[in-house]
Amino acid sequence: MQKELTRCNFELGLLLVLRVGEPSQRYRLRAPDNPNPPSRVLTPKTGTPTPTRRGCGLNIIRYKRISSTNTKAKTLVEKGAADWTVLVSEVQTQGRGRSGRSWKSPKGGLWFSLIIRPKIPIERIPLLQFWVANALRKGIEEAYGVRPEVKWPNDLVVDWKKLAGILIETKISGPEVVYAIVGIGLNLNLSAEQLPTGATSIFLVKKKRFSLEKTFSSILTVLERHYETSRDENAVVSDWWKHCAHRMKPVIIETGNGKIRGKCLGVNPDGSIIIQTERGNITVPDGTLRLDA
Ligand code: BTN
Repeated sequence: MQKELTRCNFELGLLLVLRVGEPSQRYRLRAPDNPNPPSRVLTPKTGTPTPTRRGCGLNIIRYKRISSTNTKAKTLVEKGAADWTVLVSEVQTQGRGRSGRSWKSPKGGLWFSLIIRPKIPIERIPLLQFWVANALRKGIEEAYGVRPEVKWPNDLVVDWKKLAGILIETKISGPEVVYAIVGIGLNLNLSAEQLPTGATSIFLVKKKRFSLEKTFSSILTVLERHYETSRDENAVVSDWWKHCAHRMKPVIIETGNGKIRGKCLGVNPDGSIIIQTERGNITVPDGTLRLDA
C-alpha cells in the first residue's frame, strides 16, 4: 500500500482518463506592461514534447490560469503523466507555498511544476531540494547575471529578499519514491506592488523585464544538467552551502517546538541544518529561518 510522507500534503486525486483539457490550447504569456511582445512570448504549443539534451523530451503543458500547477501536476501524475512533464501557468489562483502557506502568483512571474520519478531511496528525498535550488540559482545567474543566494530550506534570496521558492511534494511506496512534484515560483517581472513584503523580483533587481520563455527554458536546461549529477550528495550539498546566505551567520529558526538561536554551521544531505547553540550543536530538521540581527 502506498504511503505518503508526512511533510507532503497531497489530497487523494481521482483516477480518471488522462485528458489535458483545462489548459489554454494556444496563448501567449507576456510580461506585464510589455510594449514589445515578440521577445517576451512563451511558445504556445501546448503539450508538445520539446527535444532536450537528454533526448527523452519534455512534455510541457501550458495554462493561462490554474489553481496551482503543483495541485494539477498531482492529478496528472496520478493518472500516469510522463516523467519530466512540466506544467507552467501564467497565473495561479491558489498558488501554494511551504507549510500550507499561500503563494502569490500574479501575471509576470514564472510558476511551474515538474513531474519526476527519481530512482532514489526515500532517505535521499531532501537532496532534491538542494538539487533544485542549485539549478535554479545557476539558471538565474546564467540568464541575468543576478547572483541569488540560497536560504534554508529551499528559498532563493537577493539581499535577504525572497526571489524564488521551491515546493517539493513526493509520494512514496515502501522504501521507494513513486514520484516527486517540483514546484518552482520565480518572481520574474513582478513590480513592488505585486510582491508580498520581504520579496523581490528580477525586474526590481535589474530594472528591466525579461522573457518568461527564455527564463523557463534556461532553468529547465540547468535542472536537467544537474539531474545527472544530483546523485553525488556531497557535491550537491557543498554547492548549496557555498552559496548559502546564512553560512556561518547567527540565525533564529522558528520550529514547531519554539525558537532555536545560534550560528549556522552547515546542512546535512538529509535536509537538516546544523546550528551551534549555547547548549551545543543542534540538528534541526525543519523550520523557518531568519538572520539574528
Ligand atoms: C515556498 O517558498 O513556500 C514555496 C513556493 C512554491 C511556489 C510554486 S509556484 C509553482 C508551484 N505551484 C504551487 O502552487 N506552488 C509552487
